Amino acid sequence: MTRQLTADVAVQSQCYLAEGPVWDPAARLLHWVDINPGHVHAFDPVAGVHGRFAPAGQDGPAVPRDDAVPVGAVGLTRSGGFVFALVDGFALGPAQPDPNQGGAGAGYPLTRVEGFRVDASVMRFNDGKPSPWGDFWAGTMPWKADGPACALYRLAPDGRVTELLGGVGLSNGLDWSGDRKAFYYADSRSGGVDIFAADPETGELGARRRFVTVEAGIPDGLALDAEGCLWLAVFGTGEVRRYTPDGDLDAVIRLPVDQPTSMAFGGRDLSTLYITTAREALTPAQVATQPHAGDIFACAPGATGRPPNLFAA
Ligand code: BGC
Ligand code: CA
Repeated sequence: MTRQLTADVAVQSQCYLAEGPVWDPAARLLHWVDINPGHVHAFDPVAGVHGRFAPAGQDGPAVPRDDAVPVGAVGLTRSGGFVFALVDGFALGPAQPDPNQGGAGAGYPLTRVEGFRVDASVMRFNDGKPSPWGDFWAGTMPWKADGPACALYRLAPDGRVTELLGGVGLSNGLDWSGDRKAFYYADSRSGGVDIFAADPETGELGARRRFVTVEAGIPDGLALDAEGCLWLAVFGTGEVRRYTPDGDLDAVIRLPVDQPTSMAFGGRDLSTLYITTAREALTPAQVATQPHAGDIFACAPGATGRPPNLFAA
């Protein structure tokens, strides 16, 4: 029988499109991006402190803005800094010891990875994560429904960028099994999550098969837990679901907002599931009925997570 779970508001962040949460076990901080405004957020659950900065553009209101440089994803690096998928390419930067320190305007020392750009007039980077092999995988999505085909890319620690997969509709959630032999991937336009065989030594992708199809809503961010079960945010349904390795629906977290986007385990013993949500595309009337859209939720689902992979730089 499918278990029904609930989640509480953990951070009233009021983001436009909160995405890609990652728990930093060393700093004991939860980070996530608010993609269009180009913010990286930090939350200290023990102190209850929440802040944000804009690594590449101007800091400003949490709405899409001309002076913002969107940030699709953030990952942690071995040296204690960040790796970013910006709107059109990759960049690196140091940790922000004080999450309230401001952004580019305050002189955040961002180092762009030169030699690779996607066409930001038609697409932007979306979800991404460091892989178990120490590189950073991130994919693109079109700005418009009839936009061009997108792709999944790999940034190596030496700055080389490789296209891993073309013909992608909307690159979204990604994660790897504990034995590194399976890569879970949501192309949101495909309506489900696929599993690729992965070479455990190199990460190279092999045969692809369908893992789960969602009948309603959009498959978005995902994460595997310590038991090898898959957590999947189903954007548009208010649900975060847990699937067993056999693809059976084990648990559903029902949220009071329609648009969950992604999740990460964090906190003590990695036993809290933090869930990001969005107010993107909601009408003012819809926001009035789901005022916590764009906030971060927390659930104790009885499962634990795994420490995040780190980018080897
Ligand atoms: C994208 C959103 C999109 C959502 C559902 C997210 O990953 O960033 O722009 O609306 O997926 O497709
Ligand atoms: Ca996403």
